[in-house]
Amino acid sequence: MIKQCKTAILISGSGSNLQAFIDAIKENNLNLDITIVLSNNPNAYGLKRAKSAGIKTICIQHSKFENRESLDKAVIKELENYEPDLLILAGFMRILSPIFIRKYSGKILNIHPSLLPKYPGLDTHQRALDAGEKWHGSTVHFVTADLDCGPRILQGRITINPNETSEELKERVQKVEHYIYPLAAKWVASDKATFKNGECWIDGKISRKPPLINF
Ligand code: GRF
Repeated sequence: MIKQCKTAILISGSGSNLQAFIDAIKENNLNLDITIVLSNNPNAYGLKRAKSAGIKTICIQHSKFENRESLDKAVIKELENYEPDLLILAGFMRILSPIFIRKYSGKILNIHPSLLPKYPGLDTHQRALDAGEKWHGSTVHFVTADLDCGPRILQGRITINPNETSEELKERVQKVEHYIYPLAAKWVASDKATFKNGECWIDGKISRKPPLINF
């Protein structure tokens, strides 16, 4: 990819991952240019974070669209003004349509709060606790048409504490996310991690088992 890659960040809520990107850029740990933050939710706190950092924001409310495709077409139309090299989904709670995924194939990253392939979908922390897991964590992956199943780039893992609640676990997993997401994006922006033939490649080799950082 290019030197300072133009990045769009898509959010729906608190935006703590967005904040991690803003901070990493400010601390010169990440060479991305966040050109736009887009939310489908007008009340997303992440919009305030973006504005405080002087980043342009747009809100495209999903409730105003008939279906997923018409929403995605509107999002694409907006994004085209910014010609993003990279799209970061940071708690964006909408499923993307194939039109969107094809258009930005290999350029969309997502973070999912589990050690994928375990626990795709929602409520991951409680499900990991209920299953008596020893470890839990988070995964950064390329987005493909398979929900939460695209090729994995990087994982962060923590040990579940005895008697931990799902809220406590979520909080600790988010700290992991704030480290691994900007790092994985840095790998993609610098071409250390690439998406080719439907797989993740790291340093020119197919990476079917993602690097794992223990916290
Ligand atoms: C994160 O925990 C991420 O794993 C999931 O959505 C959450 C977003 O949190 N995809 P925030 O809005 O970045 O605080």
